Order: sequence, then structure tokens, then C-alpha cells
Amino acid sequence: MKVQAEKLTEFCTEVLMAAGLSRDEAWYQADCMVEGDLRGIGSHGVSRLYYYASRVKAKVISAGAEPVILSESGAVMTIDGKNGIGPKVGRWTMDRCIEGAKKQGAFFASVKHGNHFGIAAYYTEYAARQDMIGISICNSDKSVAPYGGAVPMLGTNPISVAIPAGKHPPFILDMATSVVARGKIVLADKEGRDIPSDWAVDKDGNPTSNPKQALGGTLLPLGGPKGYGIGLLIDIFCSCLAGAFNSRQVGRFWDDFENPQNVGFFMGAFDISKFVDIETFKQKMDSTIDEFHACPAAPGYGEVMVAGEPEYRKKQKQLKDGIELSNAIFEDLQKLSIEYNIPMQF
Ligand SMILES: NC(=O)c1ccc[n+]([C@@H]2O[C@H](COP(=O)([O-])OP(=O)(O)OC[C@H]3O[C@@H](n4cnc5c(N)ncnc54)[C@H](O)[C@@H]3O)[C@@H](O)[C@H]2O)c1
Repeated sequence: MKVQAEKLTEFCTEVLMAAGLSRDEAWYQADCMVEGDLRGIGSHGVSRLYYYASRVKAKVISAGAEPVILSESGAVMTIDGKNGIGPKVGRWTMDRCIEGAKKQGAFFASVKHGNHFGIAAYYTEYAARQDMIGISICNSDKSVAPYGGAVPMLGTNPISVAIPAGKHPPFILDMATSVVARGKIVLADKEGRDIPSDWAVDKDGNPTSNPKQALGGTLLPLGGPKGYGIGLLIDIFCSCLAGAFNSRQVGRFWDDFENPQNVGFFMGAFDISKFVDIETFKQKMDSTIDEFHACPAAPGYGEVMVAGEPEYRKKQKQLKDGIELSNAIFEDLQKLSIEYNIPMQF
């Protein structure tokens, strides 16, 4: 099933409004999910509409909440997200970082009382579009074991950095600090697919390609102790610095519809033009990317790309041809259409 992005965004917006959000709040959440799908990150796409709508309906996400600046000093700001919908609070925070960076060269903001903010690139790509280097991280509820540990203690705590180029699309690193995002395992389970056996272990610590067993066990950190280190670093920024819960405390996204999550975000922007001439920078970015494109491909690989490129290509294709939705996700949307009495006009 292929659906045009605009129609899917409008449907999700209306469902979220029926659940209790304002149009503005609902649009941010819908836009963030559809951006996930457009970029080929189905784990963070409309497959999550049920969860966001249910959290709003259950009032564990606060409709109408406006973020509040708690303190500002030099190039640093602390924000209380007031349990508002994640993408709206996140974009609002990135706007503060961009404004601050335009004045001071760089600016950083921490957020407590946040909600799940979807793909971390939703904030950094937005900054890169404005000739900034954007960085965003957040923590999430525990699902990843520390290196050498048998039980989950960290979230999949993602990081994204986006850097604009000239003729090429921006470099956008956007990744979980687990081998993959947990949502990819949830999606595989929903769609009846096996997963690679190095993503997670079952409850007894054995590698598994069964998504159900993986979800009942623990995800593994990316690259052993290194991914564990980055995941913990993100948790420290989001809890110790931002004042949100740590991953052991963050409310469970998938099945706790009684408690707010209190996720922490940390975001920043660098105004490139305060460092170097922006056009010179973009030319250098282009030639750097060209160098990597010119790298001979190893056996079994067609070409060398840079971070952000696979997602950029997918997005261009799906903007033209429509977003591919699996039967399982389409059926979920049909159920939501009935539950919230919003017709599916696609
Ligand atoms: N909000 C949250 O709590 C949360 C938690 C975890 C993950 N996430 C999101 O989940 C999404 C998926 O994360 P993931 O770790 O599974 O991502 P992934 O494994 O799909 O991709 C990670 C990175 O690798 C790059 N990449 C992939 N193939 C490449 C290639 N052939 N050449 C060069 N670069 C390539 C991508 O551009 C991307 O930057 C991200 O958007 C992330 O922000 C969100």
C-alpha cells in the first residue's frame, strides 16, 4: 500500500486531535512520524500513531502544555518541557538553540519533563536547513544491557548530528546507541519477520532471531563497550544535567499508560558562518563527500555512501511514489480510523 505523505500527515493530525491535542501539537507529532516513514525509518513512523494517541487520550502526555525556560546563562539554557508532545517541545528547543547560535556562535539547551521525540534527525536536519550544525540526543526507557550486563539498564538513547553541504544532501548521522532502535524489533514482531541474531539476547542471555524473545530479553549496545559508553553518556546528559529521569526511571513508552515518561533531551546548534565562510564550508563538505563516493566498493557492496544518504534517497523516492506501508500497519491505521471516527482518505 502506497500513501502520499501529505494525506498521511493529515490523517495522523486528525486522529491526534481527536485524542486531545491542538492542531498545532498534533501536526508536529504527525509530521515527525511521517518524516520517519519518508526516511525509511518505519520503526519511528505512523506505526507509533496508536501509542502517541493512546498516551494523549490517557492524559500521560499533557495536551496544551507550553515549554518554560527555567534558566539562561551565556550560551546555555535549561527548559521544562511540561510533559508536552515530544516533537513540538523538541522543535521549540532547537529554535532556541538556533536563535542563540546566531548571536553567540553556538548554543545548547537541556530539557526535562519531555516525551518520546521520535527520530533525532527531526531536530538536526531542521537546523542544517538553516545552515547550522545541529545536535540532538535524548534518553529513553531501559531496554539495553550495559556491556557485560545481563539485564537492561539503558534506553536506546539516540544521537543525531546534521551538517549541511552544498550540492549534496546534508551529512546526517542519526542512530540509536543499541545495535538498532527497539522499534525495529517491535515492527519485525508486528510484521512477522525474524531479526538478525546480533541485535538482542533472550531472557537467558542467548542470541535470538525471534523478535518476541528479543523483546522479552535485552537489546545489546552498539559496538560493545563503546556503544554502552555513548549510551550512558547520553543518559548522564539527559538526567544528571537536564534533570529528567534516567533510563532506569523513564516511564515505559509501549505499555505504561499511567505515568508520564519524563524523558530528557539535550540539543545544540553551531552557526557555521561564525567559524568560516559558509559557502567555503559547503564546498569543502561537497569535496569531502565526493572523496567518500570515489572510494572503491568492497565485494558485496555497490557503493560507498555517507550518513544520511540512504534516508535522503528513500525520502525523495517516497515523496514521488508515496510511502510504502505494510499490511499490518495499514490495518492498525484502519482500527484507529474507526476508534477516532476519522475517515482514511487514501
Ligand atoms: N526517540 C528515541 O527514544 C529513539 C531511540 C532510539 C532510536 N531512535 C531513532 O531510531 C532511528 C533508527 O536508529 P538506528 O540506529 O536503528 O538507525 P540505522 O541503523 O537505520 O542508521 C544509523 C545511521 O547509519 C547511517 N547509514 C545506514 N546505512 C548506511 C550506509 N550504507 N552508508 C552510510 N551510512 C549509512 C544512517 O544514515 C544513519 O545515520 C533514528 O532515527 C533514531 O533517532 C529514537
